[in-house]
Amino acid sequence: MENERGSWGSNIGFLLAAIGSAVGLGNIWGFPYKMGKSGGFTFLIVYLLLAAFVGLTIMMGELALGRKTGTGPIGAYHAVSKRFKWIGWLAVFSPFIIMSFYSVLGGYCIEYMSLNLSNLAFRNPTISGGDLFHSMLTNPLGSVVYTMLFLIICYLINRGGISGGIEKFNNVGMPTLFVMLVIIIIKSLSMPGSIEGLKFMFVPGYAVSGGFIESAPSISTVLATAGGQMFFSLSLAMGAMITYGSYIDKKENLVRNSTIIVISDTIIAIMAGIAVIPAAVAYGIQQGIPVGEIALGGPSLLFVTLQNVFNSMGSVGALFGTIFYLLVLIAAITSGISLIEVISTFFLDRAAQKGRKASRPRIVLLVCLAILAEAALVAVDGLGSNGIAPFNLLGMETNVTGWNDCWLDFMDMLSEGLAMPLGAMLMSIMIGWEIHPKSMLDEIHSGAGSGMDGFFSVCMKIIAPLGMVLILSGQISDFFGKDARIAGYIIGIVVYVIGVSVAVTSPMRKAAYK
Ligand code: TRP
Repeated sequence: MENERGSWGSNIGFLLAAIGSAVGLGNIWGFPYKMGKSGGFTFLIVYLLLAAFVGLTIMMGELALGRKTGTGPIGAYHAVSKRFKWIGWLAVFSPFIIMSFYSVLGGYCIEYMSLNLSNLAFRNPTISGGDLFHSMLTNPLGSVVYTMLFLIICYLINRGGISGGIEKFNNVGMPTLFVMLVIIIIKSLSMPGSIEGLKFMFVPGYAVSGGFIESAPSISTVLATAGGQMFFSLSLAMGAMITYGSYIDKKENLVRNSTIIVISDTIIAIMAGIAVIPAAVAYGIQQGIPVGEIALGGPSLLFVTLQNVFNSMGSVGALFGTIFYLLVLIAAITSGISLIEVISTFFLDRAAQKGRKASRPRIVLLVCLAILAEAALVAVDGLGSNGIAPFNLLGMETNVTGWNDCWLDFMDMLSEGLAMPLGAMLMSIMIGWEIHPKSMLDEIHSGAGSGMDGFFSVCMKIIAPLGMVLILSGQISDFFGKDARIAGYIIGIVVYVIGVSVAVTSPMRKAAYK
């Protein structure tokens, strides 16, 4: 099936690209740490249940919506809904905002990879991870240049199109990533003391009894953490799967594909955890650092703790360091290109709709330049190191942590904190209550059986939106403090009730539910 938009060359190509989109920084620095802190194996079970009941349905919904309409999110919502047309804009806004910091972090990976490569060549004197991170963050010019380099790589891939660029890169990148991950796992597990890190990740309650954290999080926190992580990690509610879905052939099985994506993403997240956490913990123990003080998540895990681990390995450390940062870089690229594709597909489809001939390379270039402009702000800010954090600019002290202490957190709050849970909730309400799950199921049935129908409908109408209320309140309390959690529940329930009322009074519903 070839048309002007292009399409995936093969189903496996699509799968690798979708898994590539899902596997990213979230898997490496989010999942293992949250799993350890929130109850180890217990967290994994909660995560899998949420993935099966909420993530899988939304994934199938997005892929079906894209394939049915053959356009990106904005066109897709316009085509199927009367009342929720505008959600498509949310689904293009989020990738744009996410890219503001994703490309900066991608740039950091290039910097650390180059550093280790240079250590390998010149045996430079070792500099501690903390000092390196500090000098990188306080060097705005360097950060902007490397952010640009990351965007240039993405540009070169995206301009090649779906099968000629994105699919090709993933076909090589994803297997490479997997092999490198296995190499790092073997090295990590061979370090003395690494068993403590494994216990942190897998043994329920070990985070507290082993001294990693002071007290266990409540069950509602665990649910919200697992849910938020799952959404981010599966690249949901950002138009990415709608966009990738719009390039899938009608004969492919969406149920099976969605299941494979969810399972692979989870397996790679667990593998990433086994690659990094035991090494970080083993190193900390060797150095006599109390386990509670080792950074096991977020940017400091990647750019402070792990660089120290590589430093401590002697000359082979530079080799493992190079492999590791290249692995993270590939994970960031395969996610970044899917975010860029959401925005580019929108402009491509719009041009086609207006009967204009669109040039993909030109559109992708303009999208990347726009991203560079906002990313430069995040890069210069250097996680709040250089005095231009959002509140500093207003002449105010930065005293609220979590969402306004630096531009990265601010952008994260807008996209992952608000737009993502709201967008996902409204999408499930739209499918469940306005246009009838049946209209999506008809699409899903092209290529798959009907065994999942009842499950899909109940999830779309009730379980997924209520799950999103939980996730929304979790995100709101993450960003705005614990007291805001109740506000999160109230906002979530109000949006659900209003959303359902708007949906059931839609003129489309009458036709759909006849
Ligand atoms: N899933 C990616 C990760 O785990 C990040 C991400 C979130 C993403 N939303 C996305 C990637 C949408 C592509 C599209 O790091």
